[in-house]
This record gives sequence, structure tokens and C-alpha cells, in this order.
Amino acid sequence: MPAQHRIIIDTDPGQDDAVAILLALASPEIEVLGITAVAGNVPLALTEKNARKVCELAGRPDMKVFAGAIRPLVRKLETAEYVHGKTGLDGPELPEPTMPLQDQHAVDFIIKTLMKEKQGTVTLCPLGALTNIALALIREPRIASRVKEIVLMGGGFFEGGNVTPAAEFNIYVDPHAADVVFRSRIPIVMMPLDVTHKALTSPARLAAFRKMGSRVGIATAEMLEFFERFDGEKYGTDGGPLHDPCVIAYLLKPNLFKGRKVNVAIEIGSELTMGMTVVDWWGVTKRPKNATVMRDIDADGFFALLVERLGRL
Ligand code: RIB
Ligand code: CA
Repeated sequence: MPAQHRIIIDTDPGQDDAVAILLALASPEIEVLGITAVAGNVPLALTEKNARKVCELAGRPDMKVFAGAIRPLVRKLETAEYVHGKTGLDGPELPEPTMPLQDQHAVDFIIKTLMKEKQGTVTLCPLGALTNIALALIREPRIASRVKEIVLMGGGFFEGGNVTPAAEFNIYVDPHAADVVFRSRIPIVMMPLDVTHKALTSPARLAAFRKMGSRVGIATAEMLEFFERFDGEKYGTDGGPLHDPCVIAYLLKPNLFKGRKVNVAIEIGSELTMGMTVVDWWGVTKRPKNATVMRDIDADGFFALLVERLGRL
């Protein structure tokens, strides 16, 4: 019986990416066809290595990990070591990976998989800049009609931005790639800061991971303790927003989320608002409704799902 969701995770680990990957690998409803790394939180050499570290932490050295774009389509790469630490996965001491990195380029893997698998059966789950996804669409436009849907973490509207007043990091790093993806007509489910800022860690929620006593539980608590310190200070909260796992939680329990299908357009002209996701929430334009934008989450249900699933690893 094929898994309910057959996905490719495109990612820039990143502690929150790591938790999203663990959640996916812990869930039998999901078959991860491959993990493609992109430059974002830290440079590509680290994001691909971190993706392999997380697979080994999950007991999945068999997982196929691919390296993708080393920089955005047009702009210079901007990274976020100030949030994630110099390794991009600061917090736990994770051993150097021994599992191989695949020789095939991530973009070729995305294209080949989508052209090979039955139409409408593969979901793309981008957790970082959209460079790999855009490159795949530019290189092989036929994949656009073959993707089941894209469920991504990125953007922000009522909540504003986290890297400029207008832009969220994943979109800001590669706004041109985001523009390609949001114009692709592929069905998109978007997890913006408006919803991820309601999925806040807390001492009690972190204690639940540590209490597992497993390598995964303790490493998750250590990753999130490190990760939350920057955002906790920035937003004056006693925890940090757990962005990327919202993507995987949506696949597992979509009813944890509430949103609306609207138009989303990407600013690529103005330096002031570069990378802004302009969300037509009130339908004041006739622009096509290209994305379901999530604004609400059952945060307790989300964390209960995380603890239950990571407890299986
Ligand atoms: O803005 C938050 C997003 O940027 C998350 O995906 C985080 O991992 C970073 O990539
Ligand atoms: Ca990420």
C-alpha cells in the first residue's frame, strides 16, 4: 500500500528544518523520496552535511540526500548563522555523517523523480529558499503539471517580515525563485510567519522532548534550546517559532491549520520591500488565487503530534 504522501523535502538545515525532517521520517503516512539541500540558513556545504546528520540521527542512513543550488538565482547569498549558529545545527553534538551524499544534482533528482512518478502523486516540501524548485521548473517546465502540490514554509503578511520589516527569510534569500514558484500554477499551501509565530516553543514543550530520554528527544531539545534563544529575545517571548515542522504537520493533520485560498505575489522590484509576499487576503484584485495561506494553528495539537511522532524514533 503506497504511503498517503510521497514527498521530496527541500531544505536548509537549520534546527527547525531538522525537526521537520525527523517528523517526516517518523511518520508512516509519509514516504520521503529524497532530501534536497539548498543554500540558505548556512552555505550549501553545511546544509547538505546537516541533512545527512539528521538522517543518521533518525536512524535512516539509507535516505538519499542531494546537494542543490549553492546560491540564489540572482542575488548574493545571505545566511543566518546569527540564528542557527556557525554549523547551522548548533545545540547538540552530532557526529560527522558517514552516509554518502548522492552524486546527482538536487535539481536533476527533482526533475527525474517528477517525470518518472505517476502524475499528481509527488508533493514538494520546501523549507528554505526556493532556488532548487525554481531551477527545476525553468529546466523542465513540464514538471509543473506533474506536481501534486507544494507545501512550503515561507512569507509573512499580517505578521510582517523577520529579516526585513517586509520579508521573511526563505523568500528574501531568493525572491526571484519565489516569483517563479508562485507563478507556476502548481497548487501551493503556504505556512507564513502569520501561522508559525503561533507555534512557539516553551520550557514545558522543550521538557517534553528531553523527557523522552532518547537520542532524538535530547538532540531535539538541545537544537531548539539553541534555536529559540535568538527569536525569544527578538520577540520578547519565552520560546521561539517552530517554522518548518508546520509543513510536515500539515500533511499529517491538516485540520491543525486554518487559512484561505488567495493570491500571493512576490516583490522583486523594490529594495525596500524585496521578497515581500503580497497576500490579497480580502480579494481586492482579480489576480489568480494561487496559494492557500495558513493563519491559524492548534499549537497544543501541533506539539502533541511532534512529541508523539519523535517519540517513535
Ligand atoms: O524564516 C524562517 C525560515 O527561514 C525557516 O525555514 C528557517 O529554517 C529559515 O530557513
Ligand atoms: Ca528552513
